[in-house]
Amino acid sequence: KLSIADVDVSGKKVLMRVDFNVPLDDNGKITDDRRIEMAIPSIKSVVDRGGQLILMSHLGRPEPGADNSKYSLAPAAKRLGEILSKEVAFASDTVGDDAAAKVAALSDGGVVVLENLRFEKGEKKGDAEFAGKLAAFADIYCNDAFGTCHRTDASMVAVPEAMGDKPKVVGFLVEKEITYLSDAIGNPKRPFVAILGGAKVSDKIMVIKNLLGICDKVLIGGAMAYTFSLAQGGKVGKSLVEKDKVELAKELIEAGGDKLVLPVDTHCGDDFSGDCNKVTVKSGEIPDEYEGLDIGPETAKLYAQLVTDAKTVVWNGPMGVFEMPPFDAGTRAVADAIAASDAISIIGGGDSAAAIGQFGLADKVTHVSTGGGASLSMLEGQAFKAVDILDDK
Ligand code: 3PG
Repeated sequence: KLSIADVDVSGKKVLMRVDFNVPLDDNGKITDDRRIEMAIPSIKSVVDRGGQLILMSHLGRPEPGADNSKYSLAPAAKRLGEILSKEVAFASDTVGDDAAAKVAALSDGGVVVLENLRFEKGEKKGDAEFAGKLAAFADIYCNDAFGTCHRTDASMVAVPEAMGDKPKVVGFLVEKEITYLSDAIGNPKRPFVAILGGAKVSDKIMVIKNLLGICDKVLIGGAMAYTFSLAQGGKVGKSLVEKDKVELAKELIEAGGDKLVLPVDTHCGDDFSGDCNKVTVKSGEIPDEYEGLDIGPETAKLYAQLVTDAKTVVWNGPMGVFEMPPFDAGTRAVADAIAASDAISIIGGGDSAAAIGQFGLADKVTHVSTGGGASLSMLEGQAFKAVDILDDK
Protein backbone atom coordinates (compact mmCIF):
# COMPACT_ATOMS: atom_id res chain seq x y z
CA LYS A 1 0.00 0.00 0.00
CA LEU A 2 1.01 3.61 -0.56
CA SER A 3 2.64 4.83 2.64
CA ILE A 4 2.58 8.20 4.38
CA ALA A 5 6.30 8.34 3.56
CA ASP A 6 5.48 8.20 -0.18
CA VAL A 7 3.42 11.40 -0.35
CA ASP A 8 4.44 15.04 -0.28
CA VAL A 9 2.63 16.49 2.72
CA SER A 10 4.24 19.95 2.81
CA GLY A 11 1.56 22.62 3.15
CA LYS A 12 -1.15 19.95 2.75
CA LYS A 13 -3.91 19.01 5.14
CA VAL A 14 -3.53 15.39 6.25
CA LEU A 15 -6.51 13.71 7.92
CA MET A 16 -5.09 10.85 9.97
CA ARG A 17 -7.22 8.18 11.66
CA VAL A 18 -5.40 7.08 14.81
CA ASP A 19 -6.50 4.76 17.63
CA PHE A 20 -6.26 6.93 20.74
CA ASN A 21 -8.74 4.64 22.51
CA VAL A 22 -6.61 4.69 25.66
CA PRO A 23 -7.59 3.59 29.18
CA LEU A 24 -8.50 6.45 31.55
CA ASP A 25 -8.91 6.38 35.34
CA ASP A 26 -11.89 7.93 37.18
CA ASN A 27 -10.19 11.33 37.15
CA GLY A 28 -9.78 11.24 33.37
CA LYS A 29 -6.06 10.51 33.60
CA ILE A 30 -4.56 8.26 30.93
CA THR A 31 -3.25 5.08 32.57
CA ASP A 32 -1.46 3.69 29.51
CA ASP A 33 -0.43 5.93 26.60
CA ARG A 34 1.18 3.25 24.45
CA ARG A 35 -1.33 3.69 21.63
CA ILE A 36 -0.44 7.39 21.44
CA GLU A 37 3.30 6.65 21.58
CA MET A 38 3.01 4.10 18.77
CA ALA A 39 1.35 6.65 16.47
CA ILE A 40 4.17 9.17 16.94
CA PRO A 41 6.30 8.07 13.93
CA SER A 42 3.46 8.82 11.48
CA ILE A 43 2.51 12.00 13.31
CA LYS A 44 6.10 13.27 13.31
CA SER A 45 6.54 12.35 9.68
CA VAL A 46 3.74 14.79 8.76
CA VAL A 47 4.68 17.52 11.25
CA ASP A 48 8.41 17.45 10.44
CA ARG A 49 7.72 17.76 6.71
CA GLY A 50 5.47 20.81 7.18
CA GLY A 51 2.12 19.09 6.78
CA GLN A 52 -1.01 20.32 8.55
CA LEU A 53 -2.23 17.40 10.64
CA ILE A 54 -5.83 16.67 11.60
CA LEU A 55 -6.08 13.70 13.97
CA MET A 56 -9.31 11.78 14.49
CA SER A 57 -10.07 8.85 16.80
CA HIS A 58 -12.75 7.22 18.88
CA LEU A 59 -12.45 6.64 22.63
CA GLY A 60 -14.60 4.08 24.43
CA ARG A 61 -18.13 3.27 23.40
CA PRO A 62 -20.16 6.42 24.07
CA GLU A 63 -23.89 6.54 23.43
CA PRO A 64 -24.73 9.43 21.10
CA GLY A 65 -27.02 11.83 22.98
CA ALA A 66 -25.97 10.77 26.53
CA ASP A 67 -23.56 12.60 28.86
CA ASN A 68 -20.33 11.42 27.31
CA SER A 69 -17.90 13.91 28.84
CA LYS A 70 -15.74 11.10 30.26
CA TYR A 71 -15.09 9.93 26.69
CA SER A 72 -13.63 13.25 25.52
CA LEU A 73 -10.37 13.03 23.60
CA ALA A 74 -9.10 16.19 25.37
CA PRO A 75 -6.76 14.22 27.71
CA ALA A 76 -5.30 12.38 24.69
CA ALA A 77 -4.70 15.68 22.87
CA LYS A 78 -2.98 17.06 25.97
CA ARG A 79 -0.80 13.96 26.30
CA LEU A 80 0.15 14.17 22.63
CA GLY A 81 1.24 17.80 23.14
CA GLU A 82 3.47 16.67 26.03
CA ILE A 83 5.04 13.88 23.98
CA LEU A 84 5.66 16.14 20.97
CA SER A 85 6.68 19.12 23.17
CA LYS A 86 4.56 21.35 21.05
CA GLU A 87 1.14 22.94 21.04
CA VAL A 88 -1.63 20.62 19.93
CA ALA A 89 -5.00 22.23 19.26
CA PHE A 90 -8.18 20.46 20.36
CA ALA A 91 -11.55 20.91 18.68
CA SER A 92 -14.53 20.61 21.01
CA ASP A 93 -16.57 19.01 18.24
CA THR A 94 -15.85 16.55 15.45
CA VAL A 95 -17.24 18.15 12.28
CA GLY A 96 -18.89 21.30 13.74
CA ASP A 97 -17.90 24.97 13.77
CA ASP A 98 -14.99 24.58 16.20
CA ALA A 99 -13.47 21.72 14.17
CA ALA A 100 -13.87 23.68 10.92
CA ALA A 101 -12.30 26.82 12.44
CA LYS A 102 -9.35 24.95 13.98
CA VAL A 103 -8.73 23.00 10.79
CA ALA A 104 -8.78 26.26 8.79
CA ALA A 105 -6.37 27.90 11.26
CA LEU A 106 -3.74 25.14 10.98
CA SER A 107 -0.30 26.30 9.95
CA ASP A 108 2.41 24.12 8.42
CA GLY A 109 3.62 21.65 11.07
CA GLY A 110 0.49 22.31 13.16
CA VAL A 111 -1.71 19.63 14.75
CA VAL A 112 -5.36 19.55 15.74
CA VAL A 113 -7.17 16.66 17.45
CA LEU A 114 -10.90 16.44 16.73
CA GLU A 115 -13.36 15.43 19.46
CA ASN A 116 -14.35 11.74 19.73
CA LEU A 117 -15.70 10.43 16.40
CA ARG A 118 -18.28 8.31 18.23
CA PHE A 119 -19.97 11.43 19.63
CA GLU A 120 -21.50 11.54 16.14
CA LYS A 121 -23.93 8.73 15.35
CA GLY A 122 -22.72 8.71 11.73
CA GLU A 123 -19.41 7.15 12.82
CA LYS A 124 -20.69 3.69 13.84
CA LYS A 125 -23.26 3.76 11.04
CA GLY A 126 -20.60 4.37 8.39
CA ASP A 127 -22.68 7.35 7.29
CA ALA A 128 -21.63 8.93 3.98
CA GLU A 129 -22.77 12.46 4.83
CA PHE A 130 -20.76 12.50 8.07
CA ALA A 131 -17.79 10.99 6.22
CA GLY A 132 -18.06 13.66 3.53
CA LYS A 133 -17.67 16.41 6.14
CA LEU A 134 -14.49 14.83 7.50
CA ALA A 135 -13.08 14.16 4.02
CA ALA A 136 -13.72 17.79 3.03
CA PHE A 137 -11.21 18.90 5.70
CA ALA A 138 -8.22 17.34 3.96
CA ASP A 139 -6.03 16.75 0.89
CA ILE A 140 -4.67 13.39 2.07
CA TYR A 141 -6.16 10.57 4.16
CA CYS A 142 -3.97 8.33 6.31
CA ASN A 143 -4.99 5.23 8.30
CA ASP A 144 -2.68 4.63 11.25
CA ALA A 145 -5.34 3.17 13.57
CA PHE A 146 -4.31 -0.49 13.69
CA GLY A 147 -6.49 -1.19 16.76
CA THR A 148 -9.57 -0.19 14.76
CA CYS A 149 -8.71 -1.81 11.40
CA HIS A 150 -11.25 -4.62 11.94
CA ARG A 151 -14.04 -2.03 12.12
CA THR A 152 -15.89 -0.54 9.15
CA ASP A 153 -16.85 2.68 10.93
CA ALA A 154 -17.17 5.85 8.82
CA SER A 155 -13.67 7.11 9.61
CA MET A 156 -12.18 3.76 8.51
CA VAL A 157 -14.06 3.13 5.25
CA ALA A 158 -16.57 5.84 4.24
CA VAL A 159 -14.06 8.66 4.76
CA PRO A 160 -11.38 7.21 2.45
CA GLU A 161 -14.19 6.45 -0.01
CA ALA A 162 -15.30 10.08 0.16
CA MET A 163 -11.76 11.31 -0.54
CA GLY A 164 -12.24 10.44 -4.23
CA ASP A 165 -8.98 10.80 -6.17
CA LYS A 166 -7.04 12.31 -3.28
CA PRO A 167 -4.27 10.11 -1.82
CA LYS A 168 -5.32 7.52 0.76
CA VAL A 169 -2.26 6.12 2.49
CA VAL A 170 -1.26 3.74 5.25
CA GLY A 171 0.62 4.91 8.36
CA PHE A 172 3.76 3.35 9.84
CA LEU A 173 2.01 1.63 12.76
CA VAL A 174 -0.57 -0.13 10.60
CA GLU A 175 2.19 -1.16 8.20
CA LYS A 176 4.36 -2.52 11.00
CA GLU A 177 1.58 -4.40 12.80
CA ILE A 178 0.32 -6.05 9.62
CA THR A 179 3.83 -7.02 8.55
CA TYR A 180 4.66 -8.64 11.91
CA LEU A 181 1.38 -10.52 12.20
CA SER A 182 1.11 -11.61 8.59
CA ASP A 183 4.75 -12.76 8.45
CA ALA A 184 4.29 -14.75 11.65
CA ILE A 185 1.14 -16.43 10.38
CA GLY A 186 1.95 -16.59 6.68
CA ASN A 187 5.55 -17.71 6.81
CA PRO A 188 6.30 -18.97 10.32
CA LYS A 189 9.62 -20.39 11.47
CA ARG A 190 8.77 -23.76 13.01
CA PRO A 191 7.86 -25.05 15.49
CA PHE A 192 5.08 -22.44 15.54
CA VAL A 193 3.21 -22.34 18.85
CA ALA A 194 0.09 -20.29 19.60
CA ILE A 195 -1.05 -19.70 23.15
CA LEU A 196 -4.68 -18.72 23.51
CA GLY A 197 -6.33 -17.72 26.76
CA GLY A 198 -9.10 -15.48 27.99
CA ALA A 199 -12.55 -16.06 29.35
CA LYS A 200 -14.63 -17.18 26.41
CA VAL A 201 -14.33 -19.90 23.79
CA SER A 202 -16.89 -17.95 21.76
CA ASP A 203 -14.40 -15.07 21.25
CA LYS A 204 -11.69 -17.42 20.01
CA ILE A 205 -13.47 -20.07 17.91
CA MET A 206 -12.38 -18.69 14.57
CA VAL A 207 -8.85 -18.09 15.84
CA ILE A 208 -8.52 -21.64 17.15
CA LYS A 209 -9.88 -23.07 13.88
CA ASN A 210 -7.57 -20.96 11.74
CA LEU A 211 -4.47 -21.53 13.87
CA LEU A 212 -5.01 -25.30 14.07
CA GLY A 213 -4.48 -25.26 10.31
CA ILE A 214 -1.24 -23.28 10.57
CA CYS A 215 0.45 -23.92 13.94
CA ASP A 216 2.32 -26.96 15.23
CA LYS A 217 0.72 -26.58 18.67
CA VAL A 218 -2.19 -24.51 19.98
CA LEU A 219 -2.07 -24.22 23.79
CA ILE A 220 -5.29 -23.36 25.61
CA GLY A 221 -5.49 -21.55 28.94
CA GLY A 222 -7.71 -19.07 30.76
CA ALA A 223 -11.32 -19.70 31.69
CA MET A 224 -12.12 -21.05 28.23
CA ALA A 225 -10.14 -24.16 29.19
CA TYR A 226 -13.01 -25.12 31.55
CA THR A 227 -15.48 -25.28 28.69
CA PHE A 228 -13.07 -27.70 26.98
CA SER A 229 -12.78 -29.64 30.24
CA LEU A 230 -16.57 -29.90 30.44
CA ALA A 231 -16.57 -31.16 26.85
CA GLN A 232 -14.24 -33.96 27.96
CA GLY A 233 -16.68 -34.89 30.73
CA GLY A 234 -14.61 -33.24 33.46
CA LYS A 235 -15.84 -31.69 36.70
CA VAL A 236 -15.45 -27.91 36.63
CA GLY A 237 -17.05 -26.86 39.95
CA LYS A 238 -18.05 -23.21 39.91
CA SER A 239 -15.68 -22.31 37.06
CA LEU A 240 -16.77 -19.91 34.36
CA VAL A 241 -18.05 -22.03 31.45
CA GLU A 242 -20.10 -21.52 28.31
CA LYS A 243 -22.48 -24.48 28.38
CA ASP A 244 -23.79 -23.67 24.91
CA LYS A 245 -20.26 -24.00 23.50
CA VAL A 246 -19.56 -27.49 24.84
CA GLU A 247 -20.50 -29.22 21.56
CA LEU A 248 -18.27 -26.86 19.66
CA ALA A 249 -15.42 -27.47 22.11
CA LYS A 250 -15.85 -31.22 21.43
CA GLU A 251 -15.54 -30.59 17.70
CA LEU A 252 -12.41 -28.51 18.21
CA ILE A 253 -10.85 -31.20 20.40
CA GLU A 254 -11.55 -33.77 17.69
CA ALA A 255 -10.32 -31.58 14.86
CA GLY A 256 -7.26 -30.50 16.82
CA GLY A 257 -5.91 -33.94 17.69
CA ASP A 258 -2.35 -33.70 19.05
CA LYS A 259 -2.06 -30.10 18.03
CA LEU A 260 -4.58 -28.84 20.56
CA VAL A 261 -2.99 -28.87 24.02
CA LEU A 262 -5.25 -28.48 27.05
CA PRO A 263 -4.20 -27.85 30.67
CA VAL A 264 -3.32 -30.92 32.74
CA ASP A 265 -3.96 -29.21 36.08
CA THR A 266 -5.64 -26.13 37.44
CA HIS A 267 -5.25 -23.74 40.35
CA CYS A 268 -8.63 -23.17 42.01
CA GLY A 269 -10.11 -20.93 44.67
CA ASP A 270 -13.34 -21.15 46.71
CA ASP A 271 -13.96 -17.45 46.04
CA PHE A 272 -12.93 -14.90 43.41
CA SER A 273 -10.26 -13.27 45.55
CA GLY A 274 -6.53 -13.56 46.14
CA ASP A 275 -6.90 -14.63 49.77
CA CYS A 276 -9.51 -17.37 49.25
CA ASN A 277 -8.86 -21.05 50.08
CA LYS A 278 -6.86 -22.61 47.25
CA VAL A 279 -6.28 -26.06 45.85
CA THR A 280 -4.39 -27.38 42.86
CA VAL A 281 -6.09 -30.32 41.15
CA LYS A 282 -5.87 -32.31 37.93
CA SER A 283 -7.94 -30.90 35.08
CA GLY A 284 -11.52 -32.13 35.23
CA GLU A 285 -11.38 -32.72 39.00
CA ILE A 286 -12.37 -29.33 40.36
CA PRO A 287 -14.31 -29.69 43.65
CA ASP A 288 -17.92 -28.41 43.61
CA GLU A 289 -17.26 -25.36 45.79
CA TYR A 290 -14.20 -24.22 43.84
CA GLU A 291 -13.60 -22.40 40.57
CA GLY A 292 -10.57 -22.62 38.33
CA LEU A 293 -8.67 -19.31 38.34
CA ASP A 294 -5.37 -20.22 36.68
CA ILE A 295 -3.57 -23.06 34.92
CA GLY A 296 -1.76 -25.26 37.44
CA PRO A 297 2.03 -25.59 37.93
CA GLU A 298 2.36 -28.75 35.77
CA THR A 299 0.59 -27.03 32.89
CA ALA A 300 2.72 -23.90 33.36
CA LYS A 301 5.85 -26.07 33.14
CA LEU A 302 4.58 -27.90 30.05
CA TYR A 303 3.57 -24.68 28.25
CA ALA A 304 6.86 -22.98 29.15
CA GLN A 305 8.75 -25.95 27.67
CA LEU A 306 6.73 -25.86 24.44
CA VAL A 307 7.43 -22.12 24.19
CA THR A 308 11.13 -22.72 24.81
CA ASP A 309 11.22 -25.24 21.93
CA ALA A 310 9.34 -22.94 19.53
CA LYS A 311 10.76 -20.68 16.82
CA THR A 312 7.59 -18.59 16.46
CA VAL A 313 5.17 -17.82 19.29
CA VAL A 314 1.88 -15.95 19.08
CA TRP A 315 0.13 -15.24 22.35
CA ASN A 316 -3.36 -13.87 22.86
CA GLY A 317 -5.21 -13.97 26.17
CA PRO A 318 -4.07 -14.59 29.77
CA MET A 319 -3.80 -18.06 31.35
CA GLY A 320 -5.60 -17.03 34.53
CA VAL A 321 -6.63 -14.05 36.62
CA PHE A 322 -3.26 -12.33 36.19
CA GLU A 323 -4.42 -9.15 37.95
CA MET A 324 -5.00 -11.15 41.16
CA PRO A 325 -1.96 -12.93 42.67
CA PRO A 326 -1.35 -15.77 43.23
CA PHE A 327 -3.51 -16.54 40.17
CA ASP A 328 -1.03 -14.62 37.98
CA ALA A 329 1.47 -17.50 38.17
CA GLY A 330 0.43 -19.31 34.98
CA THR A 331 0.35 -16.15 32.87
CA ARG A 332 3.68 -15.10 34.38
CA ALA A 333 5.29 -18.48 33.59
CA VAL A 334 4.21 -18.23 29.96
CA ALA A 335 5.35 -14.58 29.75
CA ASP A 336 8.73 -15.45 31.31
CA ALA A 337 9.26 -18.30 28.85
CA ILE A 338 8.40 -16.06 25.89
CA ALA A 339 10.70 -13.31 27.18
CA ALA A 340 13.59 -15.75 27.68
CA SER A 341 13.25 -17.36 24.25
CA ASP A 342 14.83 -16.06 21.05
CA ALA A 343 11.82 -17.12 18.99
CA ILE A 344 9.85 -14.52 17.05
CA SER A 345 7.20 -13.56 19.58
CA ILE A 346 4.05 -11.62 18.86
CA ILE A 347 1.78 -10.60 21.70
CA GLY A 348 -1.81 -9.83 20.74
CA GLY A 349 -3.11 -6.62 22.28
CA GLY A 350 -5.66 -6.26 25.04
CA ASP A 351 -5.14 -8.36 28.17
CA SER A 352 -1.97 -10.20 27.10
CA ALA A 353 -0.34 -6.87 26.24
CA ALA A 354 -1.41 -5.56 29.67
CA ALA A 355 0.01 -8.70 31.32
CA ILE A 356 3.40 -8.51 29.59
CA GLY A 357 3.52 -4.80 30.51
CA GLN A 358 2.62 -5.54 34.14
CA PHE A 359 5.46 -8.10 34.34
CA GLY A 360 7.91 -5.56 32.85
CA LEU A 361 8.73 -7.86 29.92
CA ALA A 362 7.36 -5.85 26.97
CA ASP A 363 10.83 -5.04 25.63
CA LYS A 364 11.85 -8.73 25.71
CA VAL A 365 9.45 -9.79 22.94
CA THR A 366 9.52 -9.15 19.20
CA HIS A 367 6.27 -7.21 18.99
CA VAL A 368 3.40 -6.23 21.28
CA SER A 369 0.36 -5.37 19.19
CA THR A 370 -1.69 -2.23 19.92
CA GLY A 371 -4.80 -4.03 18.69
CA GLY A 372 -6.91 -6.47 20.72
CA GLY A 373 -9.83 -7.20 18.38
CA ALA A 374 -7.77 -6.24 15.33
CA SER A 375 -4.98 -8.71 16.07
CA LEU A 376 -7.57 -11.42 16.77
CA SER A 377 -9.12 -10.72 13.35
CA MET A 378 -5.73 -11.18 11.75
CA LEU A 379 -5.22 -14.46 13.62
CA GLU A 380 -8.62 -15.52 12.30
CA GLY A 381 -7.29 -14.91 8.79
CA GLN A 382 -9.62 -11.99 8.07
CA ALA A 383 -8.75 -9.21 5.62
CA PHE A 384 -9.29 -5.58 6.59
CA LYS A 385 -11.58 -3.52 4.36
CA ALA A 386 -10.15 -0.40 6.01
CA VAL A 387 -6.73 -1.28 4.60
CA ASP A 388 -7.80 -2.81 1.27
CA ILE A 389 -9.47 0.48 0.39
CA LEU A 390 -6.20 2.46 0.59
CA ASP A 391 -4.17 3.28 -2.53
CA ASP A 392 -1.75 0.74 -3.88
CA LYS A 393 1.86 1.78 -4.33
C1 3PG B 1 -9.96 -1.57 20.69
O1 3PG B 1 -9.74 -1.09 21.80
O2 3PG B 1 -9.93 -2.80 20.47
C2 3PG B 1 -10.19 -0.65 19.54
O3 3PG B 1 -9.92 0.67 19.88
C3 3PG B 1 -11.57 -0.82 18.94
O4 3PG B 1 -12.54 -0.43 19.85
P1 3PG B 1 -14.03 -1.01 19.72
O5 3PG B 1 -13.95 -2.48 20.05
O6 3PG B 1 -14.87 -0.23 20.70
O7 3PG B 1 -14.47 -0.81 18.28
